[in-house]
Amino acid sequence: MDVFLGIDIGTSGTKALAVNTEGAILAQAVREYPCHHPRPLWSEQDPEDWWEATCEAIRDTISQEKFDGADVRAIGLSGQMHGSVFLDSRDQVVRPALLWNDQRTTPECAEIEDRAGGRDALIRMVVNPALTGFTAPKILWLRNHEPENFERTKRVLLPKDFVRLRLTGEYATDVSDASGMLLLDVAKRRWSTELMAALELEESLFVRCFESHQPTGQLRSDVAAELGLSPKCQVAAGAGDCAAGAVGNGIVRSGLASTSIGTSGVVFVHSDEMRIDPAGRAHTFCHAVDGTWHMMGVSLSAGGTLQWFRDRLCPELASDCRDQGRSAYDALSEEAQGVPAGCDGLICLPYLAGERTPHADPKARGCFIGLTLAHTRGHMTRAIMEGVTFALRDGLEIFRELGIPIEEVRASGGGAKNELWRQMQADVFASPITTINVEEGPAYGVALLAAVAAGAHQNIQDACSAAISVTGRQSPRVEHQSSYAEAYARFQELYPTLAPSFQKL
Ligand code: XUL
Repeated sequence: MDVFLGIDIGTSGTKALAVNTEGAILAQAVREYPCHHPRPLWSEQDPEDWWEATCEAIRDTISQEKFDGADVRAIGLSGQMHGSVFLDSRDQVVRPALLWNDQRTTPECAEIEDRAGGRDALIRMVVNPALTGFTAPKILWLRNHEPENFERTKRVLLPKDFVRLRLTGEYATDVSDASGMLLLDVAKRRWSTELMAALELEESLFVRCFESHQPTGQLRSDVAAELGLSPKCQVAAGAGDCAAGAVGNGIVRSGLASTSIGTSGVVFVHSDEMRIDPAGRAHTFCHAVDGTWHMMGVSLSAGGTLQWFRDRLCPELASDCRDQGRSAYDALSEEAQGVPAGCDGLICLPYLAGERTPHADPKARGCFIGLTLAHTRGHMTRAIMEGVTFALRDGLEIFRELGIPIEEVRASGGGAKNELWRQMQADVFASPITTINVEEGPAYGVALLAAVAAGAHQNIQDACSAAISVTGRQSPRVEHQSSYAEAYARFQELYPTLAPSFQKL
């Protein structure tokens, strides 16, 4: 049996997943690691944790004895985007990686725009504006604040590409993940040497860039032996977790969009042509489908807001649920189910980690607006779910404004497991929401890309057709749409009203 492994280096943990040629899941395993916040707005991880977790997760999938490690033909890599791994001349990590949700680089974003000759010139070079989460501002931050670490840095890798280096000894990345570095000419699918020159960054800091389905090298023989895999096993270029998750959802042709509610919330649409949001609110990146693009909007704290609510404000419920072997999210969601749409006037802005789409404001804050003595925990839970869904609609509306065709929105991520949240998406987006036969997201998407890299399928569309089918569909309910429409209008008014206060907090 031919086996393909997908590895996703996420923010809360690394997942390994094995599939056969038809895309049936054989085994999977997850290893968690911490995320560090040494100062407000900072978010860092130790790349060594990713490597250890990857090895353990791979070993765990093999130990389940559902397949033989020697039969793994190819591995696909996915990971949290934008993270900066700084390596010295011996490929040792110089300092902890700055992550996608790190917000320390506002001055560096201004510096990039300035050095590029203005925002329009920057967009001409790399298609996207400078945002704090992206990689290029992190590199400039290192140069501005830790010059001795910058001097020692000889290469800058994205999280999944650090794991690739350890697996294969090869320096490589893929176009979808590289798009989020703000150094790729997304239109031409190659590095922008023009922007590198403007920023005075050596081209040698950056690695070779592949299309997502292309092989980038074989496993090192010592690593293969240690992990119980064949040294002939190929490693495919893979994709950033948003594009990989979309492939895992079958979003590989025009008309299809998806949402994902994990720590972050993502609304994603495939596009055969490159489209740009002139206001710079949504990103335009290369897709993991050869020669196509995608647009996406990212809400930085989606499931992350509900997780914060559970852990910080409901610890007793969480511990009772743990004792009863039940999910605290299910318990909270049952309470939310009893609250009417619109939460009796309670609105949550889920901007606990600042916000990216559509506001691009690291200083945005989370809020509950409209509390009264009558409101309950159920109201607050539901207000979070509605606030996250409204934030995703903000992204979807940008695609609609640009005239990108959307026939179907596929829901994915932890949030899609909750029926109330899926129905809320259908009602708030006024669009049918579908679910598919697999729920494994980015790791699944790159396992399919690995199968293409190994020649098991001709292209990623064929791999997706063989593996993915729609299994569930929820339609928008007319009777709820007007309460949501009203609440969404209130939600949209709040950020502009509160933004000046956020700056002062
Ligand atoms: C995408 C983004 C996040 C991370 C999360 O632009 O910042 O979705 O990739 O893993």
